[in-house]
Amino acid sequence: MVVGKATRRINIGVIGIGVGGLEIIRSAVQQPETINLTAGCDVVPLTRERFQERFPDAKVYSSVDEICKDPNVDAVYIASPNRFHAEHTITAARNGKHVLIEKPMAISLKETEQMVDECERAGVKLVCAHTASFGLPYRIMRKVIQSGEIGQLKAITLLAYTDWMLRPRTPDELDFAQGGGVPFRQGPHQIDTVRLLGGGMIKNVWAKVGRWMPERAIPGYYTAHFEFEDGAVATATHNGYGYFTLGDINGPAAGRSSIESIVEVRKQMRAGTRDEAADKQELRIGGAIEVKQFEAAKTAGPGRGNFGRQIEREPGDRTGLSDTGDPGTIIVSCERGDMRIGPRGVFIYDDEGVREVTGESAVNARGEIHEMYEAVVNDKPVYHSGRWGMGTAEAIFAMVESSETGKVVELTHQIPVHPDYDADLTVVDL
Ligand SMILES: NC(=O)c1ccc[n+]([C@@H]2O[C@H](COP(=O)([O-])OP(=O)(O)OC[C@H]3O[C@@H](n4cnc5c(N)ncnc54)[C@H](O)[C@@H]3O)[C@@H](O)[C@H]2O)c1
Repeated sequence: MVVGKATRRINIGVIGIGVGGLEIIRSAVQQPETINLTAGCDVVPLTRERFQERFPDAKVYSSVDEICKDPNVDAVYIASPNRFHAEHTITAARNGKHVLIEKPMAISLKETEQMVDECERAGVKLVCAHTASFGLPYRIMRKVIQSGEIGQLKAITLLAYTDWMLRPRTPDELDFAQGGGVPFRQGPHQIDTVRLLGGGMIKNVWAKVGRWMPERAIPGYYTAHFEFEDGAVATATHNGYGYFTLGDINGPAAGRSSIESIVEVRKQMRAGTRDEAADKQELRIGGAIEVKQFEAAKTAGPGRGNFGRQIEREPGDRTGLSDTGDPGTIIVSCERGDMRIGPRGVFIYDDEGVREVTGESAVNARGEIHEMYEAVVNDKPVYHSGRWGMGTAEAIFAMVESSETGKVVELTHQIPVHPDYDADLTVVDL
């Protein structure tokens, strides 16, 4: 389907109105000038009811076939469980709908290839949607690397300590074969970031994946070492078991992420008394937590993304490490300097000392929606394309393979960052 340039809005349908689907639901109220949420599809009746209450003018469907046949839908945002990502993308493409796909793109390399082939054959755009790498700090770091002002990129270190494994999960999320666990679910945040900064072309991967919580059979840990074609290296670690979290360095985390709350959840899991389905429902549309977040999103507008949960500090106070949530903390090392994320911008440590910079760009943290809009309405390239997503997915599958075989895995499906990406972003001193 071609969107007339005169309409200037894309009609979007959301498939899977769960926690991931909220990304597009919030964007719909934050960016009404570009997005029109015209339809939603979910298999759960209560979810459909709540979606209809929130968006009375939208069409509501119980099957993917139906929403993909709706002539008033230009693109679908797919946030269904991971095992359906390929099937739902292919159904959308065959019905002429553009696709924004949640991470992980799919659960096998073969599926990602099929998704790309089908979208290319149908002539529809495929955008690999939200990962942390869309956040402004990483984009600023990439610009600094590209400028060459602190020399060539040599090494990236990413370290995440989160409570990911203790957050409420559905049975499919607790099944590794269906893409459950930290490597599949959280790997895309770190690997997309590493690839963005390193230029995209990972040469090989060595990794160890860990499963050490009896109550959760899925992996809650990985550590991975990536080598780029130009010799730069990256190390990415995510421990989602939630004993130590980076929030403990940065100041006490509040609410569900506090140590007290995490301890209580872990005890309930061990005792078998946790009502996990009810916990997760609170996060979905109409749930107590979601309603608060939705109201806040309405007034906040789209964020710049991932400056992290920093405690307030005086300008110039550099104590504490950034806790950017899921991707963790990052240190980027170039020949003549290092970078890390601060509360307001990026700290650059170089031969002259340390300074803080930020970035100016018309593109906010919801870059995936901007990409889809520009591609559909103005025929611009998709930067986080299906082939880009395939490269990130390949790196995750390689992490798992390396952990199982103990060997370094060579990658063959990498593509570079598009040369025009972030052309409008400028780095400015703070
Ligand atoms: N980018 C992010 O930061 C982010 C955050 C959360 C979730 N996600 C992604 O969103 C996806 C879903 O995870 P979640 O946490 O939202 O789970 P969830 O269970 O809250 O949401 C999945 C939704 O899909 C619905 N569904 C299941 N089968 C369906 C089908 N055949 N057709 C239509 N709807 C169907 C479920 O009823 C549910 O409402 C995952 O791929 C996950 O990785 C991404």
